[in-house]
Amino acid sequence: MKKATMILDRDFSIGQIDPRIYGSFIEHLGRAVYGGIYEPDHPTADKNGFRRDVMEMVRKLDVPVVRYPGGNFVSGFNWEDSVGPRETRPKRLDLAWFTTETNEVGLHEFADWCAEAKTQMMYAVNLGSRGPDAARNIVEYANHPGGSYWSDMRIRNGRKDPFGIKLWCLGNEMDGPWQMCHRTAYDYGSVAREAAKMMKWVDPSIEVVACGSSNTHMPTFGTWEYQMLTECYDQIDYVSLHQYYGNPTNDTPGFLARSMDMDSFIKTVVSICDAVGGSKHSKKKINLSFDEWNVWYHSNEQDKEIWKQDKWNRALPLLEDIYNFEDALLVGAMLITFLRNADRVKVACLAQLVNVIAPIMTRNGGGVWAQTIYWPLMHASKYGRGTALRPLVKSPTYDCADFEQVPYVDATAVLGDDGSVTVFAVNRSMDEDIELAADLRAFGDLKIAEHIVLHHDDVKAVNTEANPENVAPGKGNGGTMDGGHMSVVLGKLSWNVIRLVKA
Ligand code: AHR
Repeated sequence: MKKATMILDRDFSIGQIDPRIYGSFIEHLGRAVYGGIYEPDHPTADKNGFRRDVMEMVRKLDVPVVRYPGGNFVSGFNWEDSVGPRETRPKRLDLAWFTTETNEVGLHEFADWCAEAKTQMMYAVNLGSRGPDAARNIVEYANHPGGSYWSDMRIRNGRKDPFGIKLWCLGNEMDGPWQMCHRTAYDYGSVAREAAKMMKWVDPSIEVVACGSSNTHMPTFGTWEYQMLTECYDQIDYVSLHQYYGNPTNDTPGFLARSMDMDSFIKTVVSICDAVGGSKHSKKKINLSFDEWNVWYHSNEQDKEIWKQDKWNRALPLLEDIYNFEDALLVGAMLITFLRNADRVKVACLAQLVNVIAPIMTRNGGGVWAQTIYWPLMHASKYGRGTALRPLVKSPTYDCADFEQVPYVDATAVLGDDGSVTVFAVNRSMDEDIELAADLRAFGDLKIAEHIVLHHDDVKAVNTEANPENVAPGKGNGGTMDGGHMSVVLGKLSWNVIRLVKA
């Protein structure tokens, strides 16, 4: 049997994990809101029209932050449309997704949903068709205690206490020509600087995220970050990264290696942030918000057909990727990548949460079920809190079309505040089980409390409403522990969570 080795030491750490790396995203897109979290006629709907069955599944993910209300949607959105009496809210054409936005769910309703879901809202302002003035007004509306035009309007609209939104996105994907009112890096950097300045004058306690590149294939990737940051370095707190991967050529080994691209994306953006900081002789460090990431490709053709037949309708079933088992493995490897970069990645949002490229699926009037990718997110969110350890991992490797020396075993570990250690590992091998031998002597007497495994013999296996547990976690073989040396067999093509507690 092939063997991978891992050495861990409590003093050899990457840093404290910011729980916000287990964030997610709800955009006014497709059936994310209408038919997803909100369906007033559904048998499980609460008094506000939110589906309780969906809420239950969201809560199990323990998502600390949810980005809202877009996405591409936000670049044409008037936030004022989403507050005040529902019957007076306008219906607007959404030019991002060619649907009609009814504004039935707006800021107040979504804040109620967040409170129920035990999460924090991360709010994106429109720096496309709007600008710094609208941005500072919504900060005043949401966060100012009262006694001003916008904060008093919030109070009249039924919300005495401020929403207290702490994290704000300065627009969305402004480097992309598909974006409403796409800007150059210089233009965007200046607008982001002025918006951030004014927003923070209204509420100095907020943090803001400036738009980085929409993906690594953007022709402006690199120069965008440098030029944009040169304009707004002193005013912002985070740079965003977005990245989606697909497997349209059905090359599973190549697809599973894509997390290496994500790792180099992160390291490149960190270098650029530090280079701009250096050029400004600044002591300030800019960290990263990877606020859109996932697999996304299954639904592309279907969406073209939907738009051919049904443009401008409400809640079109767009971006409804049905995730298979190999997608879950890549999502697991991407979560491992965040943990390995926990010193600089402070926020990450799986895009998205319900129905739209989502871990949770619903049927209108019907059931709710977990897609394959739900499981690695849930495991990481539940067990991946504390200190990210810096493991020394040696694994046999393979080569594929875009990458050389891809480790078969992608693994990392987290030291919990209670002294427990959790190892997360993906075995990328299509045909071989691999032994993971870990040296854990530095942690004293540990025993294996649990070995969770996600595996299916068919990489294309999916979950459906009728068969929701087709791809679901089970028990691994457990492994052995001897004098601080752990040995666990990672089955071929598997996501593994090995939880070690004091013996
Ligand atoms: O998450 C779906 C879309 O992907 C978002 O609206 C946009 O920001 C990105 O291109």
